[in-house]
Amino acid sequence: MTTHVLSDAEYDVVTEALVSMAGLVFDVSRRGAISAILHERMGKSGHATTGSYLAHVESTLGAVERQQLLDAVTIQETHFFRNLPQIDALRRDVLPDLLRRSRSTGRPLTIWSAGCSTGEEPYTLAMLLVQLFEETGPFPVRIIGTDVSAVALDVARAGVYSGRTIQLAEPGAVERWFDERSDGSYSVAQPVRDLVEFRLQNLVTDEPPFGTGEVDLVVCRNVTIYFGRETTVRLVRAFHRLLALGGYLLLGHAETLWQISEDFSLLPVGESFVYRKDAVPQNGRRPAMGRSPATSPPPPPPRRVMRDVLRVPTLRPRRAPAPPPPTEARPVPVVSPLDDLNKARDSLTAGKYAEAASLAERATAAHPLLVEGYIIEGRALSNQGDDDGAIAALRKAVFLDPTAAHAHFLLATTLARVGDPGGAALSFASAAETLPNASSETLSELLDGRAVSDLVDLCRQLAVSLQSDREPTVGAGAAFQDDGRRR
Ligand SMILES: C[S@@+](CC[C@H](N)C(=O)[O-])C[C@H]1O[C@@H](n2cnc3c(N)ncnc32)[C@H](O)[C@@H]1O
Repeated sequence: MTTHVLSDAEYDVVTEALVSMAGLVFDVSRRGAISAILHERMGKSGHATTGSYLAHVESTLGAVERQQLLDAVTIQETHFFRNLPQIDALRRDVLPDLLRRSRSTGRPLTIWSAGCSTGEEPYTLAMLLVQLFEETGPFPVRIIGTDVSAVALDVARAGVYSGRTIQLAEPGAVERWFDERSDGSYSVAQPVRDLVEFRLQNLVTDEPPFGTGEVDLVVCRNVTIYFGRETTVRLVRAFHRLLALGGYLLLGHAETLWQISEDFSLLPVGESFVYRKDAVPQNGRRPAMGRSPATSPPPPPPRRVMRDVLRVPTLRPRRAPAPPPPTEARPVPVVSPLDDLNKARDSLTAGKYAEAASLAERATAAHPLLVEGYIIEGRALSNQGDDDGAIAALRKAVFLDPTAAHAHFLLATTLARVGDPGGAALSFASAAETLPNASSETLSELLDGRAVSDLVDLCRQLAVSLQSDREPTVGAGAAFQDDGRRR
């Protein structure tokens, strides 16, 4: 049986309905997949036209069919311990900080995994907490996982997994946190399950499961990538209201609050970034984690703060910590991080990659928001064959400046090289989008005599072909994957 492909007019009406039902935006590249889903759902529910089908799912009587449609169009891509740099940030900094604060107030630690899919994310959070309790002693915790997909939540509540999601868990996790079953699948251990509760909730149309200021940590990763800007702005505003002062927001590696919200402070933590709700946003200044929000904050900085260069100390030493200051009483040369950046640029041009990487790293250690520093570091590490280091640096660059075409392009080529086609496809797509507005300097470095339009076309083609290498079988939305690190 051939699927009727929706006409332009039909596709417009259907995609508008999906935006109003769940905030989900589907561009024209998804027309085939959405047409197939609509065709199947219309057949099963006995509707001959998209008009009558949509009228049904949008009516009170159509609630069951609406749920079926949302189950079919959403992407449930996830796995345990997804994005290790973020997991490390949670384990080492965010959760211990929140736990300390909860102990001091006596209020249960409250965590929301918003868009939790089949449950791996909230269970991972519970695993991190159970591990932390072994050092600190137990403390009351509520982890609530919500999702719009009822099918995904059935899997989450069952808590039994096999295959890729288990294979991608961090080393040792399977033995530690699961009970093996006779059929070879793995069941989440009871102490982990005890901390987690699941609820059906639509982030766009339903009331949130918490009141104002009740939540300590919102983890909403790889969900807003499916939403339009207005929906994301509204959602992030709600997260801000629901979070307690000093509470954290974690987004996916491809999601930032750039041009979405300036209500949060951005904190670099290890190889990742987190957002924090402070009395007054630090706007890029990075207070030490665990310190109470400032009571007499500095005056608000100018807009577009994420791209500003600010002098802030690093939280922990990075790969190559700067040498200790001299102890003898002799003049200490004053080295500006911008001098380091200039020298790093020169070293890179001269092919002195190790020197360029370490100068760029020192510059970004002093100025964690220095986008160009991460790009130079990424380029230098990539030239030295350190793909993992290059990926970590370039991810920071695109996180801080989603318009950084050069960083998207390099990230794409590096991810493709290390065997992450999904990540590479996403980065090639971002490169194609950002290249037309790149600076002439970036273009002259990348184009090598070609026209911009040729490079844009190439990036688009690579995005499509790499995407089809790893297209998930569930749902029809844009497919994204991250793992933060090569395994
Ligand atoms: C790609 S998964 C992300 C899962 C997990 N957060 C992670 O990063 O691994 C996206 C999830 O968002 C859910 N979702 C999409 N739109 C939603 C909405 N309007 N309300 C609640 N959940 C939604 C989907 O059902 C899907 O399970």
